Amino acid sequence: QKPKITVVGSINMDLVTITSQVPKVGETLFGNRFQMNPGGKGANQAVAAARLGAHVQLIGCIGNDDFGQQILRHLQKEGVDVSNVEPVTDSTATATIVVADGDNSIIVVPAANNYVTAAFVESKREVIAASDILILQLEIPLEGVQKAVEIAKENGVTVILNPAPIQELPSELIHDIDYLTPNEHEQTLLRQGRSAEELDGKLIVTKGSQGVSIREGGKDIHIPAFKIDVVDTTGAGDSFNGGLALALSKGVPLREACYYGNAVAAMSTTKLGAQTGMPTAAEVEEFIKSRA
Ligand code: RIB
Ligand code: NA
Repeated sequence: QKPKITVVGSINMDLVTITSQVPKVGETLFGNRFQMNPGGKGANQAVAAARLGAHVQLIGCIGNDDFGQQILRHLQKEGVDVSNVEPVTDSTATATIVVADGDNSIIVVPAANNYVTAAFVESKREVIAASDILILQLEIPLEGVQKAVEIAKENGVTVILNPAPIQELPSELIHDIDYLTPNEHEQTLLRQGRSAEELDGKLIVTKGSQGVSIREGGKDIHIPAFKIDVVDTTGAGDSFNGGLALALSKGVPLREACYYGNAVAAMSTTKLGAQTGMPTAAEVEEFIKSRA
């Protein structure tokens, strides 16, 4: 039986400009290429988990516009269950992304994502309660995230929060989350005013080409990344989270689940766009074998 993974989160259209140089304020430059790709951390994580073979429910909002329709069709093609993605009277969220040398900078306009409120999430209680794993990020209102965690907690559902983009988080929320997956920059704020014990066993810091670090039983453990030729790192973190969730849903121990997530993330960076390079389970298996 397929693991049931639910993602509550953002759905964006990524407007990507590929350039060799990033303009300074007031400067105009010629770029190399432009591309529109379905993205958003929530949708990316949903697609990552679906390609790996999970039954994925995405809970979120799109706008009443072309982008929304394009994204819906795309998610359906990817096998993501979109019966709980609802249209609202606003525009679909966009992410304006500049990719230079494989690295990126991003501006997100949340628009429809702002409608993923506590009340909206409450109306999806049954879906969350019936899942094995819940994945969240911070591109929707915090009250929506809090409500989702509350429902998951009441129903014994494992929760992964990718705290991106980072903001201050209440300690009760951190307490109720099973796994937190910040990057190095995000972990700094997360650690502030918190003891190591508070985060022990739940903190998974993603470090790009350096791999990930976890803290278990008071010890720091490092799980190295796979070396690979990078084209675009956009969505690598989301791919990691999707892979991590899939492995955890199958009862794989945390260290191994991170190793699996690393493989998924590495493979995702070999293609332009957040979702394009995300692998299937068979592709990951082959990749891991070829590197062993
Ligand atoms: O994590 C990558 C995602 O962040 C992009 O797809 C973009 O939509 C932004 O939300
Ligand atoms: Na990619």
